[in-house]
Amino acid sequence: MGSLPGGINRARTHIRLATEQRGDKQTLNKLVVRKSPPLTGRVRVSGAKNSTLAVLCACILTENEIVLENVPNISDVRVMLEIISGLGLKACWLAEDVLHISGAPQVAGEAPYELARKLRASNLLLGPLMARCGRARVSLPGGCNIGSRPMDLHFKGLRCLGADLDIRSGFIEGRVRGRLRGAKVYLDFPSVGATENLMMAAVLAEGQTVLENAAKEPEIVDLANFLNAMGAKVRGAGTDLIRIDGVLALENGVRYSVIPDRIEAGTFMVAAAATGGDVTLENVIPPHVEPLSAKLREANVQVEEGGDTIRVFAPEPLLPINIKTMPYPGFATDLQSQMMAFLSTVPGTSIIVENIFENRFQVAQELRRMGAQIKVEGRVAVIEGVHCLQGAAVKATDLRAGAALVIAGLMAEGVTEIHNAHFIARGYRDFETRLKRLGAAVERL
Ligand code: UD1
Repeated sequence: MGSLPGGINRARTHIRLATEQRGDKQTLNKLVVRKSPPLTGRVRVSGAKNSTLAVLCACILTENEIVLENVPNISDVRVMLEIISGLGLKACWLAEDVLHISGAPQVAGEAPYELARKLRASNLLLGPLMARCGRARVSLPGGCNIGSRPMDLHFKGLRCLGADLDIRSGFIEGRVRGRLRGAKVYLDFPSVGATENLMMAAVLAEGQTVLENAAKEPEIVDLANFLNAMGAKVRGAGTDLIRIDGVLALENGVRYSVIPDRIEAGTFMVAAAATGGDVTLENVIPPHVEPLSAKLREANVQVEEGGDTIRVFAPEPLLPINIKTMPYPGFATDLQSQMMAFLSTVPGTSIIVENIFENRFQVAQELRRMGAQIKVEGRVAVIEGVHCLQGAAVKATDLRAGAALVIAGLMAEGVTEIHNAHFIARGYRDFETRLKRLGAAVERL
């Protein structure tokens, strides 16, 4: 078994069940937001949720010890920890954002329905399970309600690598005779999840796999760096052509730091802009949020980049803008709802075109309850900036919609009650505490 560089602090806290650690769901399910002064101060950005979820799935591929730093303690991550613990891995927190994972000598091939259904990212178990166990039984994933979210590209790719896959009684069942075999796979769309799944499947396959039209998101590069640190041979991550030379086993224990969360960073940037504030983000990689920075600058928001900091301040007047969501390095769909909230009070007409998920304008309806003037036709939203929003009772329909409603609530006159706030806890660590430190009037009830 590969040893871990740097040694491990043995004083560990074992993970507690996702539902018991914090009462995310029923008990803390409403946020109350009041009109707030301009947000000011500094905020440290957490590790990336989407990187962490993929990296935790990649831990299935090894028997070695892993220490992960900069891990956000959010409910999606806690659910994924429960899932991989159920598969035979051991996970415990060494510090607030540091996890120790012991790879399993034997991995169970089945992820339980109750947990997997909670998390869209449980589809990322398929590739590593097929690679490590030669079989997989994973409940069809759940997660945010933002579109049909098919898995045809995951299936197509894994079949190219020699897997037999079927859907039976709500489960994806996979099997392969012997090892997966490297192959050339063209992705019809640069799907983040399919690229990650296939990368993880291919690292233990026989021979070379080439992924064409692969996703280029920073989280793909992060996963590739993690796999390579464990002993995989992945080249080209961050471009649309990824080559993976399969190895027999991942030999190295590693200590690895997850990249900062560009979506969390972007959410704080938009909140700063929306309240006319002056906020400096720490622990951020400025090029990762460049698509957002560019759009905020078009709206006359000032964005100043340092080495690993970004300062956002928003002098009047703000200008309307047009946004099209695209795969990275295009504008992130995960920041679209927050921008819609922001633009709802920017004078003039702004247009948003959503090209990634067909059902990602649900927040428009909630924003309209607060007085926003937004017309949605298919994938296009037209926003006429109003003078101000009014607080109302609204509901989060997904994680990012929840964040968008918080931003709207900070700008709105009176009180905004956000129901289904457990969605927000899925992706933002201590969101309201950190907003409060910047001056926001927000409480979780
Ligand atoms: C990931 C992110 C999510 C982000 C999204 C797009 C994680 C855990 N989640 O989701 O936050 O919003 O990338 O940046 O990392 N598609 C297919 N067939 C497939 C797979 C995808 O048609 O087999 C389509 C989807 O329906 C969607 C588009 O491709 O329209 C993008 O999906 P994808 O990039 O796969 O997103 P996820 O990996 O699910």
